[in-house]
Amino acid sequence: MEEKMQVYEELVARGLIAQVTNEEEIRDMVNNGKATFYIGFDPTADSLHVGHFMALCLMKRLQEAGNKPIALIGGGTGYIGSHTVVELQNSGYEVVIVDNLSNSRADVVDHIEQISGIRPAFEKVDCLDFEGMDAVFAKYPGIKGIIHFAASKAVGESVQKPLMYYRNNLVSLINLLELMPKHGVEGIIFSSSCTVYGQPDHLPVTEAAPIKKAESPYGNTKQINEEIIRDTVASGSPIHAILLRYFNPIGAHPTALIGELPNGVPQNLIPYLTQTAMGIREKLSVFGDDYNTPDGSCIRDYIYVVDLAKAHVIAMDRILNGKQKDKVEVFNIGTGRGLSVLELINAFEAATGVKLNYQIVGRRAGDIEQVWADPSYANNELGWKADTSIEETLRSAWKWQLHLREEGIM
Ligand code: UFG
Repeated sequence: MEEKMQVYEELVARGLIAQVTNEEEIRDMVNNGKATFYIGFDPTADSLHVGHFMALCLMKRLQEAGNKPIALIGGGTGYIGSHTVVELQNSGYEVVIVDNLSNSRADVVDHIEQISGIRPAFEKVDCLDFEGMDAVFAKYPGIKGIIHFAASKAVGESVQKPLMYYRNNLVSLINLLELMPKHGVEGIIFSSSCTVYGQPDHLPVTEAAPIKKAESPYGNTKQINEEIIRDTVASGSPIHAILLRYFNPIGAHPTALIGELPNGVPQNLIPYLTQTAMGIREKLSVFGDDYNTPDGSCIRDYIYVVDLAKAHVIAMDRILNGKQKDKVEVFNIGTGRGLSVLELINAFEAATGVKLNYQIVGRRAGDIEQVWADPSYANNELGWKADTSIEETLRSAWKWQLHLREEGIM
């Protein structure tokens, strides 16, 4: 009996079978497309043997999952990870999230389920833990692709704690690359960054631009990780990779159920800006108005996080359908549009009707003057385009901040 309950709870936790208590719930699930058929039984009744019970669960799983490919998402409860999980599920992937929750909350899994109607499997494991990761792959046979978001990402902190950054960001990738062939995983999508270009000589920057010396240990981990992947594939490892170089991801899911939740005082522009608009921070500091740009403030390519998430789904399909031109491919994931900090503030005020308190202060050490993407390779080759307007994107960021207030989180 105990064994049967364990199996039952495990399958419920993985979203493979549903726990319902009355007929209305069943009707609701069928009407909403969450279940295709049901077999009623009571797992606590001892008339059903474990073998029968598992066969029933398996039938349901096959019926519901069909031939859904399984993707493992490292850092899947984080900001970009959670949005990507939703888009993968919407596209028919079955998702296993692995996250150590060092910079995210466990209830993100509930919110993903609220949005997509599907509960992703969740394992609280650190990607640094080789045996732990080995066990996750063994527990979910058939994982075909990995998206690796699990990394530390605060530029300033990386200068203070370089060894922590090198360990977290390099060892986690090495673990995954070592485990992939053992478990038959075909492809990995790596979260790289436009930070690898430093201050580009030509704008907009293309994938062919030279890699500049990194400004921080964080940036260096992105460059080294790209090299680690290239060297591994060149050595004959039977894996495929896509390196996505993100520009500046901002905004939140239109439902405002998931979004960016920075710990402590935000280092990045948008969370600082929305927290200021909310009155949590007194004033936004604009770091420098004496740059060689039209209004003197820095220019970035701000991309809506849901558009960015969709690029991952296309990249995953591309690997698993054998559509790659090379075993390692690189794509800029940006909008192609540069906006200055002051333009962004104006756009926020216009889009939300909220007035922002800000002041110009000195430059921030290590900031790049201006960078924006030439995304044409991704547009043409992936058939992907970031097409959400900056106004809609900023409204989504504001809606998320309002949601955090309503929930009493911030
Ligand atoms: N900025 C301000 N005031 C703030 C915060 C930021 O004026 O309070 C300015 C910055 O000077 C910069 C722009 O807003 O010009 C964007 O700054 P962010 O900190 O939001 O992002 P960065 O462009 O510095 O990007 C860095 C890394 C990326 C990484 C990203 C998110 O270079 O690789 O942070 O972590 F992806």
